[in-house]
Amino acid sequence: MGAGMTGSAMAQMMAARGYADVVVIDIVDGLPQGKALDIAESAPWVGFSTSIVGTNDWTRTANSDVVVVTSGVPRKPGMTREDLLGTNANIVRSVVKNAVQHSPDAVFIIFANPMDAMCHVALEASGLPKERVIGQGGMLDSSRYRTFIAMETGMSVRDVSAWVLGGHTEATMVPIVSNATVGGVPLTQLLAPKKVQAVVERTKRGGAEIVELLKTGSAFIAPAAATIEMVDAVLLDQRRVLPCATLLTGQWGVRNGYVGAPVLVGEGGIQKVYAPPLADDEVAAIKAAGVAVRDLVKATPPAA
Ligand code: 2OP
Repeated sequence: MGAGMTGSAMAQMMAARGYADVVVIDIVDGLPQGKALDIAESAPWVGFSTSIVGTNDWTRTANSDVVVVTSGVPRKPGMTREDLLGTNANIVRSVVKNAVQHSPDAVFIIFANPMDAMCHVALEASGLPKERVIGQGGMLDSSRYRTFIAMETGMSVRDVSAWVLGGHTEATMVPIVSNATVGGVPLTQLLAPKKVQAVVERTKRGGAEIVELLKTGSAFIAPAAATIEMVDAVLLDQRRVLPCATLLTGQWGVRNGYVGAPVLVGEGGIQKVYAPPLADDEVAAIKAAGVAVRDLVKATPPAA
């Protein structure tokens, strides 16, 4: 849902995977059609044979297995993700209602910002069980954290195992240091405490750093890659353990708030939620993320 920068980057990556048909829907006439046609015309060289359709018509999305919600506006320089709350809540609510009507069995992956609060909006608007409404924030934030660790250590990002849990706002993101490793070697043995702190801070501002550079929009390549990894996990029942936002039910003391945690993702969405032991300050920060998302939910304007 949404044929903007992120939606079309996701569509392109998904089409290139070559195992699933893709439908791109947007309210702007011609935008999804143009993007989809452009992607379809790359098939002869990229080598996929699956179909990609762009449309403004919900019936074309019927019986989707996965719905990714990118609809909404991105932030401009100086804005926080939370500033998008009112505008995007209305958009996400209406898009999700339409989508679930045509694809009642789909797993919904929420990308629109503020992502944590939009998961609550989508859960309520869809009426789906929480296992089928998943937020992608931690996927992107962990991707940034791993990238910055690789840059600082000069080691391959492939060997970096590091997670961002908590929320997907600057104030609530929790880059986990206590279990971050490169090839099994603790991060704290590889970088001085000041450097670790710098990586943590850069990760929290990772989205803003790109917004400041682009000036006319936010990141879309890494966000798309992070989200399509989740789509793969669901469609191929990969049973990946991924850092995604899920409705916690008491883990780390968070109840009824969408917060990033390691979750088992496969057919049907979230199959299990884990709450591994973490440092005390990390647990406290995750608890605070739970409180912050509940506050954002309270501040979300109701349906018009
Ligand atoms: C980001 O962090 C758009 O929230 C997204 O770049």
